[in-house]
Amino acid sequence: MAARAAEHVSAAVRDAGGPFTIGLAGGSTPTETHRLLARADIDWSNVSLWLGDERWVPHDDPDSNAGMARRTLAGAVGAEVVAPDTSLPTPAEAAADYERRLQEIWVERDGIAAPDLVMLGIGDDGHTASLFPGTAALGETERSYVENWVADKGVWRLTATLPLLWSARTLLFVVVGEAKAGVVGEIIDDDVPYPAHLVSSRAADVIWVLDSAAASRLGRV
Ligand code: 6PG
Repeated sequence: MAARAAEHVSAAVRDAGGPFTIGLAGGSTPTETHRLLARADIDWSNVSLWLGDERWVPHDDPDSNAGMARRTLAGAVGAEVVAPDTSLPTPAEAAADYERRLQEIWVERDGIAAPDLVMLGIGDDGHTASLFPGTAALGETERSYVENWVADKGVWRLTATLPLLWSARTLLFVVVGEAKAGVVGEIIDDDVPYPAHLVSSRAADVIWVLDSAAASRLGRV
């Protein structure tokens, strides 16, 4: 599964043949894919890495997605992670600052500057990035990156919004484990409007990489 995900990313970078951006997912699933990408034949000098979401913690915090990306991939390949500045005074300022900086890295193709490939995970509640069910960020229709209060966790998150994810050229969902099988089946087979379904249903191009456990409830495989 991780090898399949790494193959998709490697092929996309090679096909681009030049500057390319990759949005990284947080959490635990990506680490194996990152480990394989770190050994792949990729010219990382052309690649900008950014984060589909970030926790409101310092980069040296164990929960930091920027820290995980640097430890598992960017540090090994010498690539830069363009990450939110969580040292700014508020989540709102950090989200606005990051939104501005992201505009600088999108590669323009056919006159359109947009994210190239965005890797995403899914939680067992159907969230993706930090678009959690019932949270305000799901209602954002203009901005591309926002602060998001996640009441169920009692934390601030910074997250790509639906408009930004829909503007990406490719979304790559990587989902592992039996715990996600139910929500994966509801999203892919039953169109249950979880945040991950809202994201995938209007995306330009979606690739699902699932292990057999996460795919075990799918009717049409
Ligand atoms: C985060 C992620 C989040 C993650 C899912 C799955 O910051 O936590 O971006 O959307 O992809 O929660 O997490 P696991 O891979 O740890 O199951």
